[in-house]
Amino acid sequence: MNEDVLETQARLSSLGLLAAGTAHELANPLSVVKSGLEYLDKGLERVRADKGLSKGAREELGECHNIVAEMKEAVQRMLSITAELRLAVRQDSKTTECDVRDVVEKALSLTHNMLKYKAKVEKQFKHSSLVFGDESRLLQVFINLLTNSAQAIAENGIVRIESDENEGFVVVKVADNGSGIKEEHMKRLFEPFFTTKPKGEGTGLGLFLVKKIVESYGGDIQIESKVGKGTVVQVRLRAIARG
Ligand SMILES: Nc1ncnc2c1ncn2[C@@H]1O[C@H](COP(=O)(O)OP(=O)(O)OP(=O)(O)O)[C@@H](O)[C@H]1O
Ligand SMILES: [Mg+2]
Repeated sequence: MNEDVLETQARLSSLGLLAAGTAHELANPLSVVKSGLEYLDKGLERVRADKGLSKGAREELGECHNIVAEMKEAVQRMLSITAELRLAVRQDSKTTECDVRDVVEKALSLTHNMLKYKAKVEKQFKHSSLVFGDESRLLQVFINLLTNSAQAIAENGIVRIESDENEGFVVVKVADNGSGIKEEHMKRLFEPFFTTKPKGEGTGLGLFLVKKIVESYGGDIQIESKVGKGTVVQVRLRAIARG
């Protein structure tokens, strides 16, 4: 692996590594809680089926069942967060070379359902080099960016993806004319768990992971935005001339 990239990886935020380590440690106990709750839920159902129960007892068990269902949902959410964080620092991803165009096209087809009713997608690819990075991780990057654009658009949106080459980097811009980002939020976009979305819609890990992945390949990310106008996310990835 290229030395610059190793250095960048070494500099990766210790906060991220700590978060991933913690996530790893939490996955097992959370699984225990999850299977315990499933067992409890079945037990409650069995008891509730008893014909001899008083109305009051049946209502009480119904309430317990609702609480267990909420807890199961909460545990599932915690497990998804731990899975995402663990994926972010997975060491086994292959660092190879790939064509950003293929990656973007794949990301677009995977997010097609989210975008089709509310936005038109425009593309213009002007790069020719390959980029340094693993295709499946870079796919995660563009899925996250397109998802954010889709979520920022109410209707009649435009999502524009452009690529170019500059100073040894392939530069990809993902632009949307969605809600835009408030000035006071700009500094916090890459913080883990920073989200402005309603509970259940966003975990606030998207851009944190995107930045981590892009930087692990020696690239960088920049975001510009204006409330009411839209957002432009620029990702730069190291170019490798086609051999
Ligand atoms: N294209 C965009 N347009 C408007 N706001 C955006 C855009 N991209 C990101 N944001 C803002 O940045 C916040 C953080 O984004 P991020 O992708 O990290 O988390 P999320 O989308 O809230 O949750 P997750 O990606 O984990 O589902 C969002 O909640 C939103 O406020
Ligand atoms: Mg997101």
